[in-house]
Amino acid sequence: MGEQLLRVQNFMVSSDGFGTGEGQSLEHPFGHADPGAMFSWAGATASWPHRTDPGGSRGLDDYFTRDFSRNIGAEIMGRNKFGPQRGPWQDHEWQGWWGGEPPFHTPVFVMTHHPRPSFTLSDTTFHFVGGDPASVLARAKETADGKDVRLGGGATVIREFLDAGLVDTLHIAVAPVKLGAGVRLWESPDELLDRFHRDVVPSPSGAVTHHLFWRK
Ligand SMILES: NC(=O)c1ccc[n+]([C@@H]2O[C@H](COP(=O)([O-])OP(=O)(O)OC[C@H]3O[C@@H](n4cnc5c(N)ncnc54)[C@H](OP(=O)(O)O)[C@@H]3O)[C@@H](O)[C@H]2O)c1
Repeated sequence: MGEQLLRVQNFMVSSDGFGTGEGQSLEHPFGHADPGAMFSWAGATASWPHRTDPGGSRGLDDYFTRDFSRNIGAEIMGRNKFGPQRGPWQDHEWQGWWGGEPPFHTPVFVMTHHPRPSFTLSDTTFHFVGGDPASVLARAKETADGKDVRLGGGATVIREFLDAGLVDTLHIAVAPVKLGAGVRLWESPDELLDRFHRDVVPSPSGAVTHHLFWRK
């Protein structure tokens, strides 16, 4: 069995480095950011899970869309990716944005300081966990059945795992839109070059530029 990696997959940032806009709410999961502008490249591919019409591209963008779940056995995400609530849970009604069939199909570890019981929707089980990044990663790897762990974002959680030196690979799609405010992943992608190699590949759709990083 190979080494289990921690991988960021298909994470979108604006040209000025924001992973989400300001003012997240139920109606606006990405705050003032327009998700259409950031995700159109993935939505145009044949493998996009929410396709409503047949067809779609089968090239590089489709490869990235499929790579999202390839050899992934668990996900770690931040509580603000899971939902718009903040602070202690008022009730347990909210079960994420994704409906009865979440696109993860693995255990998902939602990082929060506010405890909540685990629950299962279809083949995805959500666990609510705190602690330092290394111990959360160790727990996720244990449940991942020898496969890799996806670090699902948002930017806050990705930065925390980067600072702890725990991220092995990142695929970041940079969109040519400026957000001006929100939660930043970086000021510039060059910040990672002391620790990571990088390839930069334009999406054939023209909508984004793919940045691939792997640990030096
Ligand atoms: N660009 C993309 O591709 C992409 C992907 C995913 C999500 N998003 C968007 O990004 C936004 C969320 O990102 P974000 O950066 O605001 O937040 P986030 O990273 O999703 O979550 C941050 C929260 O995680 C919890 N947390 C982090 N570290 C912790 C630790 N060590 N122990 C316990 N809890 C910890 C804290 O929640 P508590 O306050 O509960 O303790 C913290 O406030 C959303 O708008 C989402 O829609 C974008």
